[in-house]
Amino acid sequence: MSTIGLFYGSETGNTRKVAKSIVKKLGEDVVELFNVSKASADDVAKFSALILGSPTLGDGELVDSWKEFLPTFKGVDLTGKTVAIYGLGDQESYGHEFCDAMAILFEAAKAQGATLIGSWPTDDYEFSKSKAVVDGEFVGLALDNDNQKDMTDERVDAWLEQVKDALLG
Ligand SMILES: Cc1cc2nc3c(=O)[nH]c(=O)nc-3n(C[C@H](O)[C@H](O)[C@H](O)COP(=O)(O)O)c2cc1C
Repeated sequence: MSTIGLFYGSETGNTRKVAKSIVKKLGEDVVELFNVSKASADDVAKFSALILGSPTLGDGELVDSWKEFLPTFKGVDLTGKTVAIYGLGDQESYGHEFCDAMAILFEAAKAQGATLIGSWPTDDYEFSKSKAVVDGEFVGLALDNDNQKDMTDERVDAWLEQVKDALLG
């Protein structure tokens, strides 16, 4: 069985594309992919490590599919599990709530007892405010395919290099 469960939601495909690229980079034998619109609590519970991905939509919110899955997700004890988060956002149009949804997933996973990894520097982004910034860093990998699409692949590579060993235990 795979070690890492990657749970994502996506409205227009950017978060899904990144999810698929992560599977490709780490290998299908290592990561199993779940769209949260079709996932269950048991799917989450069976992994020792999780990657959670969501765009920020609405007014600094999770994508609808994640909103619907969140109560189910919150019912899973994540004690002993390692969790890394990534999020898609748009720093130019939503610079006052850039990638805020990562904070929602971060707070939930923390409250469920998970060990959170994968914080990411705010250098190279231009935004005024983000709930996903804690102690000067994003709580996960912030990606912006609306304005910095050409940086996504190298950011994903660098972030995976940073979190890979801890996720694989
Ligand atoms: C209606 C709408 C609201 C959005 N709100 C935010 C926001 O509050 N913060 C942010 O960083 N990005 C926001 N975005 C940008 C999206 O997060 C971004 O386009 C993302 O890549 C979409 O991911 P997806 O293709 O996986 O759905 C918004 C986009 C739309 C269309």
